[in-house]
Amino acid sequence: MSILKNENKPSFFAPFGPTMGYFKMPPEMVEYLNKSMDKNLDDFSDYLVGKVSQELHFDKDTRKYAADELTQFIIDYHQYTKNRNSMGEANLDKNKRPYLDIIAAWFVRQFEHEYNPMHVHENCTLSCVGYLKLPEGINEEWEKDYKDHYPSNGHIHFVYGTSGQYTCSNFLIKPQVGDFYIFPSYLFHGVYPFYTKGERRSFSMNMIFSMV
Ligand SMILES: [Fe+2]
Repeated sequence: MSILKNENKPSFFAPFGPTMGYFKMPPEMVEYLNKSMDKNLDDFSDYLVGKVSQELHFDKDTRKYAADELTQFIIDYHQYTKNRNSMGEANLDKNKRPYLDIIAAWFVRQFEHEYNPMHVHENCTLSCVGYLKLPEGINEEWEKDYKDHYPSNGHIHFVYGTSGQYTCSNFLIKPQVGDFYIFPSYLFHGVYPFYTKGERRSFSMNMIFSMV
């Protein structure tokens, strides 16, 4: 088990469960994606589970830009997962070429009182969410919310498996502009409503990654 760096020392490890990935998007990337919203994009919110105002398809250029910016991170995510899932024994095959197929990509425009019920993403293996904008003044709402016993306004909640001793079955994230997460597409997640007037904007992509 080469994942255990020093077998003579006590250590803790978590070999079960899905891997998530985090990447901080540079400000230029956030700006580029926000500007892409100025284009006339197709709204397909009627076909998705979100109870939100708009879910707008990326156009071809935006999709290509996102793929160029994120592919290396997604390769690293697969390398990490392959290595972890084999307890350090396996790695991505260096003789093969990574191929990222973006099946769908869209902006999510969520306003006060809107929400996104628990769901998974279908017809893909990997999904992601990146945060592009938050309502002005949401920090004051969060300040109050964090005095409560279970703060969650405007947060995304990931759920996996069953609750039990020594295991973690859920993960709650407070969105911050520039934060980008990837996760297996079968992982249940939902977004809670917030009450500050304004837009919480994110984007998601459904992807299939392969080594060819
Ligand atoms: Fe989703």
